[in-house]
Amino acid sequence: MVDAGLRPTLPQWAVVTPKRLEHIQRVARLAARWAEQVGVPESEKQRWLRAVWLHDALRDATSEELEKWAADSPGPPELRHGPASAGRAQAEGEDDRGVLDAVRYHSMGLAEWDMVGRILYCADYLDPGRPFQRKQRAELAQRLPADPQGVLREVARARLSHIIESGWPVLEPTYRFWNSLVGTGGSLP
Ligand SMILES: [Fe+2]
Ligand SMILES: [Fe+2]
Repeated sequence: MVDAGLRPTLPQWAVVTPKRLEHIQRVARLAARWAEQVGVPESEKQRWLRAVWLHDALRDATSEELEKWAADSPGPPELRHGPASAGRAQAEGEDDRGVLDAVRYHSMGLAEWDMVGRILYCADYLDPGRPFQRKQRAELAQRLPADPQGVLREVARARLSHIIESGWPVLEPTYRFWNSLVGTGGSLP
């Protein structure tokens, strides 16, 4: 059972393991807490929560299913489940562009994101159940309501550093997202 403050809940078509569901619930709790602390209207909180419940809805789906819903987004499941979940959500009637972009790009980042995408990106990374850098991440989660832009930049910095340290390519939406956060006016930020 999901507590009422975290509704909506997982879509019926979701394919997630029990562990994944626990992650999604923790992300929902964090986003709901921030919504209360920031004092956003209920309608905005609902948008944040819709994005949270959708973001990993197809994270454990078969590659055939991912292919079906994200035919235009090649790549490994790690990069494909966001576009696939967004595609499926849209087919099921979700028409909020901010929510769909939040879900579609949650693994990559997007320069054009509204608050939904930014909140999901931070909450996903700051999930207290993740085993690494617990203290630093808890501090960032604590700080977010007072300094969302600063925390977003710190989360993006950490996630990009990890991509680079792992020797993975930095995809176009990701570096555009990073540049949008730090500015590209020619002087050092
Ligand atoms: Fe994900
Ligand atoms: Fe996630």
